[in-house]
Amino acid sequence: MPEERTLTRRDLIATTAKAAAVAAIALPAAKAATAAGPARPVAVASRNGLAAVKLAVERMLAGAVPVNAAVAGVAIPEGDPDEVGVGYGGLPNEDGVVQLDAAVMDGTTMRAGAVAALERIKHPAAVALEVMRHTNRILLVGEGALKFARAHGFPEENLLTERSRKIWLLWKENASGKDDWLPDPKEVEDPDIRWFIEQYGDSYFRPAGTIHLSACAADGRLGCCTTTSGLFFKVSGRVGDSPLVGCGLYCDSEVGSAGGTGHGESNIISVGAHTVVEFMRQGKSPEAACLATLERVAGNTRLAYLKDEAGRPKNNLYLYAVNRAGEVGSAAIWATARSQYAVCRAGSEPQLLDCAYLYKREKA
Ligand code: GLY
Repeated sequence: MPEERTLTRRDLIATTAKAAAVAAIALPAAKAATAAGPARPVAVASRNGLAAVKLAVERMLAGAVPVNAAVAGVAIPEGDPDEVGVGYGGLPNEDGVVQLDAAVMDGTTMRAGAVAALERIKHPAAVALEVMRHTNRILLVGEGALKFARAHGFPEENLLTERSRKIWLLWKENASGKDDWLPDPKEVEDPDIRWFIEQYGDSYFRPAGTIHLSACAADGRLGCCTTTSGLFFKVSGRVGDSPLVGCGLYCDSEVGSAGGTGHGESNIISVGAHTVVEFMRQGKSPEAACLATLERVAGNTRLAYLKDEAGRPKNNLYLYAVNRAGEVGSAAIWATARSQYAVCRAGSEPQLLDCAYLYKREKA
């Protein structure tokens, strides 16, 4: 079967020649792109992506294609030890091992690359980009993904910081009253533990981190990237929505780009990012498309243990979107103090905007 063969040198030359043609793929004129339309390039990301959207826009202004700009942007939180949901310093799985997931997609060529349960590599999004560039496959996992990263020269390092190790141990010691572990009374004095409790509260130790970034170039072409250390203290080998094309991210330069952060399993079941893009294809604004998708997520949440007393999903999920005209939007299932998203446009400083939402709790 033609799609099963690997590229010969002759194919490669032909492919390279075709690259210029790919760069010149004609796309329908953006419906809403007028002289008075929103400024592009523009990048939209989760709340932790303020610096990332700024860099992504700078890269697009310098000529980078959107998917490359997105990967450059998310490298900032991936390398930041204080960003405990992504890359270096990400919170580990239940065994204390940091396992990272990431994916990229180019909405013009409709190609994607992804890695899942990747260990010891700080920048999984860059590895996903190499999967897209250098293979005719999409998703590599575990040991295979690590071998691929090694082959492409990515350095290996211990990703578990002292802060993340202490937070993991706190979770382990408090996970059950029926196991061998006892909470250490001195933990509450520890500055790293206090930092975590200030960020995430002390009653619920298992949020998910993650950054999604969707990038729209001046001509409306789109690319996106999602990268994460996943659900805090996840079962070893668990893969969330982030590296799954259609779930954690999706884009089509004829329409728009979208992605999600939060409870991965809720997003997988409703194929969130693809659904947002399809709602935009039907004419919804990015915000309305995110809300309509979250309504579907809520409707697909059917088991009692996933719902509160009013029948609403207990877990939170955020969706982010941009259309090819450069309009942006975001929505969450639950409004919280952290329900904001990051946007940067050419000619403006990055800013945090409030997400739309389905539900708000009476007491914060
Ligand atoms: N959304 C990230 C995860 O569930 O792993």
